[in-house]
Amino acid sequence: MQKDFLSIRDLSIYEFGRLLDHATEVKKHPDKYRKALKHKILAMIFQKPSLRTRMTFEAGMLQLGGEAIYLAPSDIQMGSREGAYDIGKNLERWVDGIMIRTFGHQIAVDLAASTKIPVINALTDLSHPCQAMADFLTLREHKGSLANLKLAYVGDGNNVCHSLMLAAARGGTKMAVGTPTGYEPKPEIVRAAREDGKDTGFALTLTTSAEEAASGADAVYTDVWASMGQEAEKEARARIFAPYQVNARLMSHAKKDALFMHCLPAHRGDEVTDEVIDSPNSVVYDGAENRLHAQKAILLALMGKKD
Ligand code: CP
Ligand code: NVA
Repeated sequence: MQKDFLSIRDLSIYEFGRLLDHATEVKKHPDKYRKALKHKILAMIFQKPSLRTRMTFEAGMLQLGGEAIYLAPSDIQMGSREGAYDIGKNLERWVDGIMIRTFGHQIAVDLAASTKIPVINALTDLSHPCQAMADFLTLREHKGSLANLKLAYVGDGNNVCHSLMLAAARGGTKMAVGTPTGYEPKPEIVRAAREDGKDTGFALTLTTSAEEAASGADAVYTDVWASMGQEAEKEARARIFAPYQVNARLMSHAKKDALFMHCLPAHRGDEVTDEVIDSPNSVVYDGAENRLHAQKAILLALMGKKD
């Protein structure tokens, strides 16, 4: 694998499958890996809030025998007190890996370029690759395979949508993305996914109709309408995205046994109703659990012994 994990594109189709297999193995046999990262330290830079990402990286490092150090936005004041380059040059003298959650994707790229230790993208405005690994692990567990499935993504064509598209391209999963006009996924990510998935069975439909996206889907995925950093647009977005709510009516367009997925946190009553998120077909907490297992596999691949 490459030094860093900044994008699903950093993984070949083979590495994507291997990483999911390894995540399954780590999930099944956690005790085998209790000392795998003994004495290793992960620095965790957060410029945005988090529950799942912080907990799963920190718990993951502890379960692998290592340690994690949380750096809050006010601690290092990235960008104002010190830039990515100097932060990377310092951290490599003390720790074995860095995880970063930030705004501009270029900050994560610059950090990775500045340092010889691995850097993991734990969400940028552009992408959320660790989330997509956990989601595809969840999809595979519930549906048996990733091929010949249709994943519908409904809502904002955002960071989570981008990483899901790139993962679907690798997994050979068909995807339909339903967004309002002006909130589509970025054209360069659409192009990249189509290029990466041209021989895997992947196909991508972009539509402004939530119903068309959900039609015949094996899983329906949504995310918040206003991402972290977009709080000022919250009310305007709530009006624009209202027809994209995942409710029982929208789920009726998908297959009867279609899963409901969400990266969380969810805004119940906005992008999803209680009825759907609390339904037996909802796998949102399985997805949250799988953040732990998928990221343990990523940490082992980047920071563990190389074979
Ligand atoms: N899904 C996710 O990344 O959750 P947090 O923002 O709580 O880390
Ligand atoms: N799109 C959301 C995902 C949160 C996990 C955000 O960026 O805030």
